[in-house]
Amino acid sequence: MKLALAGYGKMGHEVEAAAKARGHEIVAIFDIDKLLSPEALKLYAPDAVIDFTQPDTVVTNVRVCTKAKIPMVIGTTGWDSELPKVRKMIEEAGTGCVIGSNFSIGVNLFLKIVASASRLLSVADYDVYITEAHHRTKKDFPSGTALRISEAVLSGFTSKTKVVSELKQGEAPSAEAILISSIRSGSITGTHTVGFDSDEDAIELTHRAKSRRGFALGAVHAAEWIAGKKGLYRFEEHITEILEG
Ligand SMILES: NC(=O)c1ccc[n+]([C@@H]2O[C@H](COP(=O)([O-])OP(=O)(O)OC[C@H]3O[C@@H](n4cnc5c(N)ncnc54)[C@H](O)[C@@H]3O)[C@@H](O)[C@H]2O)c1
Repeated sequence: MKLALAGYGKMGHEVEAAAKARGHEIVAIFDIDKLLSPEALKLYAPDAVIDFTQPDTVVTNVRVCTKAKIPMVIGTTGWDSELPKVRKMIEEAGTGCVIGSNFSIGVNLFLKIVASASRLLSVADYDVYITEAHHRTKKDFPSGTALRISEAVLSGFTSKTKVVSELKQGEAPSAEAILISSIRSGSITGTHTVGFDSDEDAIELTHRAKSRRGFALGAVHAAEWIAGKKGLYRFEEHITEILEG
């Protein structure tokens, strides 16, 4: 495929490497010094644009791509409030777009495993907890991925109804709460564990990210999959079809 990149930062570089490794050609790279434009899309004629830029840029890039009828993969996060506008543009143009706040294939499959394990273990008398560990400079907690994991647990665990990530001194989590504990240290890329604990035994499921490459690879798979499709798709909802090609 001929791919164009919007945003050539940390993720843009990873996507370039992952796309080349899968035999694709990067025909254009856009960043603040060379913005995505209708003229450039006409000139380079990519089969898809993969966007890892910043939240303010997404709507403009979608406008340009939908006018040129070019499919998109959007990995940029933080533009949720613009989703209705983006969906309308995609639907009116009849083009295709895959969006996702986490393009990691491993994380998305892990979420499915967690939901399934939670359904199984919910019928026995297990308690459940979540831990997440990231590098010292990460500013938000709990991580977005930990929250997604908690949703997967809640979807299957009937005895749990809420999530807590902070406790006051002297306070214990209530029986219906899932506690998410955060570790911030060193250069940990991202480790998430779901633990199920009973009086008899304990089961732990852990996802350990080794690099950003997992996100990039997922975005490239999504670009391959979206060719020829119409509409807006969420990566996490279509992961199995995307991997099957
Ligand atoms: N969905 C996922 O799986 C996933 C994974 C990692 C990061 N992200 C998100 O992807 C985005 C980029 O992350 P990053 O780590 O590569 O950030 P980064 O800061 O390293 O790179 C962003 C790049 O976008 C460029 N840019 C800014 N405005 C632009 C514009 N108008 N047009 C074109 N390029 C522009 C910047 O110059 C920079 O090179 C962030 O929103 C981040 O949260 C998503």
